[in-house]
Amino acid sequence: EAETEAEAKDDAASGDLIVVGYAQVGAESDWRTANTESFKSTFTEENGYKLIFDDAQQKQENQIKAIRSFIQQDVDYIVVAPVVETGWEAVLQEAQEAGIPVILSDRQMDVDESLYECWVGGNFIKEGEIAGNWLADYLKAQGRDGEDINIVTLQGTIGASAQVGRTEGFGNILKQHDNWKMLDMQTGEFTQAKGQEVMESFLKSYDDIDVVVAENDNMAFGAIDAIKAAGKTCGPDGDIIIFSFDAVKAAFDAMIAGDLNAAFECNPLHGPRVDEIIKKLEKGETVEKIQYVDEAYFDTSMDLESIKAERAY
Ligand code: AHR
Repeated sequence: EAETEAEAKDDAASGDLIVVGYAQVGAESDWRTANTESFKSTFTEENGYKLIFDDAQQKQENQIKAIRSFIQQDVDYIVVAPVVETGWEAVLQEAQEAGIPVILSDRQMDVDESLYECWVGGNFIKEGEIAGNWLADYLKAQGRDGEDINIVTLQGTIGASAQVGRTEGFGNILKQHDNWKMLDMQTGEFTQAKGQEVMESFLKSYDDIDVVVAENDNMAFGAIDAIKAAGKTCGPDGDIIIFSFDAVKAAFDAMIAGDLNAAFECNPLHGPRVDEIIKKLEKGETVEKIQYVDEAYFDTSMDLESIKAERAY
């Protein structure tokens, strides 16, 4: 089939490379940095790609702008890690009308399934449930399962599927324990600085916090600093139990230091997974619509030094 002049120009610019636009959330956490690195090291020219990367600084409007610019540049695929779940219909319809397949990665969108090819990421509800069950077992092992337990949660970006899922999953287990009380839940925007700020205000408002749930590791790091600054201790030998999601290397350091009780894994290495999806689509194969990644958890009862040595992020 004859190429138009514009298509020929495009081919000359990118060779026969597959052009992928990645609309990334931002650079708010260690997890996010590992995720960006995973895409940048996978979508290379040697691997047959040209990657156009956009960091939206945690703003949906920036992500929508990035997607529109990818459409304008007529990329071959658009990959989105959506900052929040809702508000994507219009821009996804524009991509569909332009004939550009959209792949979702990491967080999910609350849109009609026909607007995207597939999604790959962690099961956030399950992560929250695993954390809740871990807490129940931990309290039981300490003989505290009959005690009143006061909990606060540092939530992620409100409306992000990582926040919605983890809050819901932990909440499902909380409902099964009449003696667990959620004192407060506030967003720390998935950042260390905001996590610290919110924890400082929790500590001013409540003097009887038993458990801190941090919806990512970086907020836990901020919370640990706030707890120490308030003259309290946390971790397995401390006054306050604290755990978080992601399980990045720095979380292992915090567990090894005795400041963090547990970390529930969320795997950021989606570059190779999206690469595999694109290669299948290129061959005209079908891909599974929803693809969950297996995830583990880690706590201070484990040999954390050796597990950390094996970890890629
Ligand atoms: O969507 C995944 C979450 O986003 C990670 O838990 C968090 O660290 C990141 O900012």
